[in-house]
Amino acid sequence: MVATVTLNPAIDKTYTASTLHPGEVNRMNTVKNIAGGKGINVTKVLRQYGYQVRALGFLGGYTGSMIEDYIKEIGAECYFTHIKGSTRVNINILEEDGYVTELLEPGPFVDSEEFKRFFEDFSRAIEDCDTVVLSGSAPENIPVFIYHDLILRAKNQKKKVILDSSGKFLIESINTCPFMVKPNILELEALSGRKIRGLDDAIGAALQIGGRGIPHVVVSMGASGILYVNDRKIYFAKVPPVKAVNTIGCGDSVVAAFIMAYDQGMDVRDILKHCVGISAANVTTFDSAVIPMKTAKELINKVEIIKY
Ligand SMILES: Nc1ncnc2c1ncn2[C@@H]1O[C@H](COP(=O)(O)OP(=O)(O)OP(=O)(O)O)[C@@H](O)[C@H]1O
Ligand SMILES: [Mg+2]
Repeated sequence: MVATVTLNPAIDKTYTASTLHPGEVNRMNTVKNIAGGKGINVTKVLRQYGYQVRALGFLGGYTGSMIEDYIKEIGAECYFTHIKGSTRVNINILEEDGYVTELLEPGPFVDSEEFKRFFEDFSRAIEDCDTVVLSGSAPENIPVFIYHDLILRAKNQKKKVILDSSGKFLIESINTCPFMVKPNILELEALSGRKIRGLDDAIGAALQIGGRGIPHVVVSMGASGILYVNDRKIYFAKVPPVKAVNTIGCGDSVVAAFIMAYDQGMDVRDILKHCVGISAANVTTFDSAVIPMKTAKELINKVEIIKY
């Protein structure tokens, strides 16, 4: 059982429109609602491969209910902490000329009683899980040390913790040494305090992070691939050529693939092939965190691994 934590989930609402006119009435052509948020995406990918998942985080209002219904529908367990505020809606408007307008809500207010309740839910929920995934950021008023405390609690219960966050939430929690961390290049720059101009800089920064005692440092580098560092090995996994359609959820696909491949006892090379193959397959379709499995299988076999 894998526990996924999404502190600030969202309904991602995508509209298509001919042309958008600010300050006027705008009629949309189509609308699509999907449950979003990084931990939710990890849940989606794991469920497609039949893994048992328990989803945690803050949910409220009718938007929260929509997410809960969706999580049940895909067969994951709901272990959300219900709050008085409403789960946010993020709006994307796609115009015919290719312009994309995004409207992002700040996220709900979480009061101290709800915050306390979340910690109780978390401790109970992870008891029979072996892996805990902490993904994304948090609503504005959540204390910055939240992941720091959650990681220590989970490690205390001998859980493998995977951290995929950014900004202050990532920086304030990295010294707890999770089992695996998955920064992208910008997040690696923030963690290491170094400017990364190429692979050599990235290797230096990843070694610096791993040197603190993090067993697996997985640096995702967008369309080029993944850099991996542990205390003995440095690998680069190269993305086979694919036509990118939608890259949302690709970092989350890397996280889900790592969990599955590690769980199956694969060696590092094969784990990386799965991380790259599955995330690259994700970008080939319009739907986010929905993996075309046949494509993924083909891509996994095409990933080139370079040892440094
Ligand atoms: N354009 C692309 N073409 C092929 N594969 C891609 C592309 N973009 C991303 N990927 C795959 O997805 C992985 C993760 O991408 P990226 O490094 O952009 O993650 P991220 O910045 O954490 O994304 P997010 O947090 O928005 O999901 C890459 O390592 C790669 O394997
Ligand atoms: Mg990411």
